[in-house]
Amino acid sequence: MITQMTMATVDQAEQLVKTVFPSRGPVERMFYWMWRRRNQVLVRHAMRLAGVASIDDTWVDLDDSGRVRGTIGLYARAEDETEARWVSWFCVNPQARGQGVGKNLLDHVIEVVRERGYRFLRLYTGSDSNQARAQILYESRGLRDVRRTRLPFSDYDRIVRELGPLH
Ligand SMILES: CC(C)(COP(=O)(O)OP(=O)(O)OC[C@H]1O[C@@H](n2cnc3c(N)ncnc32)[C@H](O)[C@@H]1OP(=O)(O)O)[C@@H](O)C(=O)NCCC(=O)NCCS
Repeated sequence: MITQMTMATVDQAEQLVKTVFPSRGPVERMFYWMWRRRNQVLVRHAMRLAGVASIDDTWVDLDDSGRVRGTIGLYARAEDETEARWVSWFCVNPQARGQGVGKNLLDHVIEVVRERGYRFLRLYTGSDSNQARAQILYESRGLRDVRRTRLPFSDYDRIVRELGPLH
């Protein structure tokens, strides 16, 4: 079941993301800290300085016992906030993979972005093997590879993907 993340499920979602993505960058590491404080004025200012215009919604997929199996979210970047929404942390617990949870979460955010009238859904991903299955899923949903950057001292590309125009 896909439902909005709440204070009751945020710790589980954060733990899942930490496990799946052990090497996150400094701003990315702050996501859950910012999410918990997203309505505070000073935090909103700090987010803007980091290029994040707003954190919109974050969803979790819960199993029958109410445990978080997967998560996904939407946020706005200052550079394109009027036309696009970006996917925030997206992952599924390794033990729950291959059952359609990831596909349902991604389809859910595509539908929300379409309903809310934005022209594009965009996301950052990577060419490392940890994220290989996600690339197949993104391609199947029409999220095109639009920009690749090789960071210094890195073996992998940072990839921007985009779906749209949706309207
Ligand atoms: C990408 C990810 C979210 C997919 O989650 P998931 O719940 O396993 O995905 P689904 O079960 O919905 O499957 C999606 C597609 O991958 C295929 N797939 C999933 N697991 C598979 C497996 N073990 N073997 C073969 N194919 C598999 C499915 O067949 C499906 O394709 P389909 O449309 O042909 O059915 C998950 O693998 C993950 O968390 N990966 C690590 C984190 C990550 O890369 N996140 C994205 C970062 S940008």
